[in-house]
Amino acid sequence: AAKFFHANLKTPEGQAGREYWLQKRRLDPRTVTHFGLGYAQNSWTSLRDHLQAQGFTYEELEAANLVRRNEKNGRTSYYDNFRHRVMVPILDLRGNVTAFGGRVLDDSKPKYINTSDTLAYKKGHDIFALHFAKNTAKGRLILCEGYMDVIALHQYGFTQAVACLGTALTREQAQLLTRYCGEVVLCYDADEAGQKAVQRALHVLEQTNLKIRVIRLHGGKDPDEVLNTFGAERFRQLLESAANDIEYQLLLARGSLDLQTPAGKAAYIKEAAKVLGWCSAVELDIYAGRLGQELEVDKQAILLLVQKQRKHARLRHEQEKSRELLEQRRKHNLQVDPERETHPAAAAAEERILGLLLKHPDFYRKARDKLTAEDFVTRFNRQLAEALFARLKNEQGVTPELLTGALCQNELDECMRMLVHSEEVANPLMEFEGCVAKLLAEKTLAAHRQTDLAQLDDESYAALFAGLKQAPDGVF
Ligand code: UTP
Ligand code: MN
Repeated sequence: AAKFFHANLKTPEGQAGREYWLQKRRLDPRTVTHFGLGYAQNSWTSLRDHLQAQGFTYEELEAANLVRRNEKNGRTSYYDNFRHRVMVPILDLRGNVTAFGGRVLDDSKPKYINTSDTLAYKKGHDIFALHFAKNTAKGRLILCEGYMDVIALHQYGFTQAVACLGTALTREQAQLLTRYCGEVVLCYDADEAGQKAVQRALHVLEQTNLKIRVIRLHGGKDPDEVLNTFGAERFRQLLESAANDIEYQLLLARGSLDLQTPAGKAAYIKEAAKVLGWCSAVELDIYAGRLGQELEVDKQAILLLVQKQRKHARLRHEQEKSRELLEQRRKHNLQVDPERETHPAAAAAEERILGLLLKHPDFYRKARDKLTAEDFVTRFNRQLAEALFARLKNEQGVTPELLTGALCQNELDECMRMLVHSEEVANPLMEFEGCVAKLLAEKTLAAHRQTDLAQLDDESYAALFAGLKQAPDGVF
């Protein structure tokens, strides 16, 4: 198909495509050949018929996403997917054509039609022109947004240019880049969408150990335009002066603040502290020094602010993590305490203990030496006990309002239920001690069920028996 599209450029039907590449996009015929660019005729069946004559079935062509199927009035027909578009073949690392991008010749929409996922091609996995760039990368690749940017850059001699295709940069693509270079220079469009894409790409690239730099374009919306307006030398300057990622973020933080005024300075330092918060110690030292000089502010003051910022960020991170944990537990516990069925006596004692502790937190002091959360037999109640005991140990309150941060909703609901049930108890302290003894006995019993009760010495047996007898039966 790629050969057919390319050959079309040399036929009378291909005039529109030829003019588009050579005149409108100002490409050199050598660039057109190098990238194997082409043109899909303004026809419904030209590619289909050409490939069928070569022995391919319609089903195969459909599987390659070159033709589409149409069912109408019980009849099936197949027609070309790409029509009246200029064609950019996408090559895998070995140089095999695996997909196409087809661009309209005017401003109509959609601008590009791309091959959807097929057996040979998966969106988000490949990088456009990496097949060419990998040989000339010399440790550095230029990552752009568009096919056309890459093609123009190669024509002007920047053969390390590549692009991700039709998606934001994926982890797979970033991983692929690490195999061919140590540094990526981002060269995205100058518009707002492009700069947002830079932030997303930085986020993905920061998970790798690639060095990152960012070009800020001037005088054109994308590299293609800058090159065609100002030539290669201008672009080379932009490339050489590209900021590293920290400098880039600092530039963004500065925005349009007026650094002549104290308020402007303060606002900039505050934003800059956020950027420097995730730098290494060496980087932090360098940039805090530079900032201090530039703004005539004590470097130590900047370092202090960064420290504060880091603490703040860490706190936020921890809050997020505990929220996540709660969420996980909530999903886990949706079915409340399934073990209640298998250990009814223990579960009843546990619930009473928890309920009474919620009502009388001071009881905890009486039990703390005997009872730990690990003594709880059922998993759900054990989790509750862990959370409650942790607070009680630190003399923190266990009122419902205070517990909302430590427990998830259904755990809270269960706590409330236990609390309400415990209010009917006539002699709370006696009941509490009885339940503790019962729970401990239940635990010993459970532990010995597997072995042999007869193995117990007399003293342990008596204690066990007393515990079981002392506790009220069927608590609820
Ligand atoms: P651009 O709109 O910047 O495309 O989209 P471009 O390559 O610079 O094209 P020209 O210069 O207008 O001819 C960047 C990339 O986003 C994908 C393509 O991969 C494109 O190269 N894209 C864009 C699509 O897949 N579909 C679209 O409709 C638009
Ligand atoms: Mn463009």
